[in-house]
Amino acid sequence: MKFFIDTANVEDIKKAYKIGVLSGVTTNPSLVAKEGVKFEDRIAEILQIVPEVESVSAEVTPDAVTAEEMIAQAQELIKINDGDKNITIKLPMTLAGLEACRYLTKLGVKTNVTLIFTVNQALLAARAGATYVSPFLGRLDDISEDGVQLVTKIAELFRVHNLDAQIIAASVRHPDHVTRVALAGAHIATIPFSVIEQISKHPLTDQGIDKFAGDWAKAPKF
Ligand code: E4P
Repeated sequence: MKFFIDTANVEDIKKAYKIGVLSGVTTNPSLVAKEGVKFEDRIAEILQIVPEVESVSAEVTPDAVTAEEMIAQAQELIKINDGDKNITIKLPMTLAGLEACRYLTKLGVKTNVTLIFTVNQALLAARAGATYVSPFLGRLDDISEDGVQLVTKIAELFRVHNLDAQIIAASVRHPDHVTRVALAGAHIATIPFSVIEQISKHPLTDQGIDKFAGDWAKAPKF
């Protein structure tokens, strides 16, 4: 399973990129709004910070409701990328979003169909040619459903029917989500920097480092 970072915050993206485990970035209108910057400018900045990742998802804004409006926005976003292939157009899971997905796929543009909450939605998105589908785990858990189980089922369905779309486990809230979606067959987990930090840690690792440091300090110096 690969890691994407789920943020529009450039400092967090830089920190994660430096570690060398980052394969992509996902943003959404809420994450961009939180930053208080112009959407297109922030996407351009992110594309520059992470030139070697496979995908930077830029989501069409909520003002784009019809497929034509989404395609028009996508075409502007692609220009920011200056022809490179790592920009991915994120589209909502609506009939218009699927139509835009099919259109952009035919043009060779990468797409990420977002706000997936059922297996059938994932199947439709894959059939519309989506490069990525994004099931939202945390938001399902919030309403007492099982987000990881959804990822398990989508992974199984894609295997059975030989579908190429990659599953991005989204709305990931904690380390246990990461382990479970990796085992469930998600291709990617998109996670905030706080979760990247959490999964790097264990109290016994810290204790071990302290013990090595203490013992080393007492060792004879030659
Ligand atoms: C995915 O691409 C979304 O940006 C994201 O994971 C949403 O997560 P949330 O439910 O924590 O807002």
